Amino acid sequence: MLLGLGGLYGVAATFGVAPSTLANPTAPEVTQCRPDADELPGNVTGLNCCPPTSNNIVDFGLPRSHRFTRIRRPAHLVDKKYLEKYTKAIALMKSLPFDDPRNFYQQANVHCAYCNGAYSQVGFPEIDLQVHGSWLFFPFHRAYLYFYERILGKLINDPKFAIPYWNWDHPDGMTLPAIYADPTSPLYDPIREPSHTPLVTLDLNYDGKDHDPVARDELIDRNLKLMYRQMISNAKNPGLFMGKPYRAGDTKSTAGSLENVPHGPLHNWVGKKEATNWENMGNFYSAARDPIFYAHHANVDRMWSVWKGLGPKNKDFNDRDFLDSSFIFYDENAQAVRIKVRDCLDTKKLGYDYQHMDLPWLNA
Ligand code: C2O
Repeated sequence: MLLGLGGLYGVAATFGVAPSTLANPTAPEVTQCRPDADELPGNVTGLNCCPPTSNNIVDFGLPRSHRFTRIRRPAHLVDKKYLEKYTKAIALMKSLPFDDPRNFYQQANVHCAYCNGAYSQVGFPEIDLQVHGSWLFFPFHRAYLYFYERILGKLINDPKFAIPYWNWDHPDGMTLPAIYADPTSPLYDPIREPSHTPLVTLDLNYDGKDHDPVARDELIDRNLKLMYRQMISNAKNPGLFMGKPYRAGDTKSTAGSLENVPHGPLHNWVGKKEATNWENMGNFYSAARDPIFYAHHANVDRMWSVWKGLGPKNKDFNDRDFLDSSFIFYDENAQAVRIKVRDCLDTKKLGYDYQHMDLPWLNA
């Protein structure tokens, strides 16, 4: 049974409650996912991003406590044993039947569905739901990775399994992590910019052009200064860092500092310049087909936690339209789950954390 927020809107309208007093959290209208999503690039045809449908969606509940914490490690520091587990889990995910919502390509399509206009907003059939460019950016991707990680853990029977993070804010992590560059590994993606190998220092401000070779030290220095700006100088309040409010019925909002840069440029840095739409990483519909997507987003997610620790004003929005916005994912048991933003604010409550790495940009 699907009783979304749509029902509530109907009731409110009937009783004549003034619109300004209504809560307006966003939610996807998953019952009407459109296979011909309207924001797909023009030359992409025949792709259906909609997940298998479910008529049984349960509400997510945070567990009271966790027996252990899953620790996400920097991708450039993982050991052989970990790498074996991780590649095995990804291989298993790729080999699930295609109509299993936990299948690797189904997982990738989740990004397409939420970002290329396959869903409208509950209560607003004419308005697409978009999880980029607003305060939904951090919580959506956190929840997405959370379920993805649990699916991988389940496939290898290791509930402690945690995905790695691409530590691009640290000089040691400022290249493509080598574990993703082995063409024989399931972590490899052939649709990437071939010149951006693990030997090349990445440019957090990449604008699509590789400028005259800059000395590695110089590029690292620029990258660290950019991190300082995006995490500190340009991130003095929640709206500036996390993105602006996006309530049900809104068609636009504004992205936060980190989403703009370096999150966006790094997508393009990995994507293939010669591909029509910078596939895979450089386009919403295809980005999550590259396993590195999840490592990239794990560091984005880590930056959200780091930012909150940087000063007393760095807090999540205390706004019910933010806290009650929700997304729907399939969990490790292929059960459809509705998760609210209020359950995504604290990684420890979700049972995971990040291995500590220094933040050399703090005094850049
Ligand atoms: Cu949903 Cu990095 O984008």
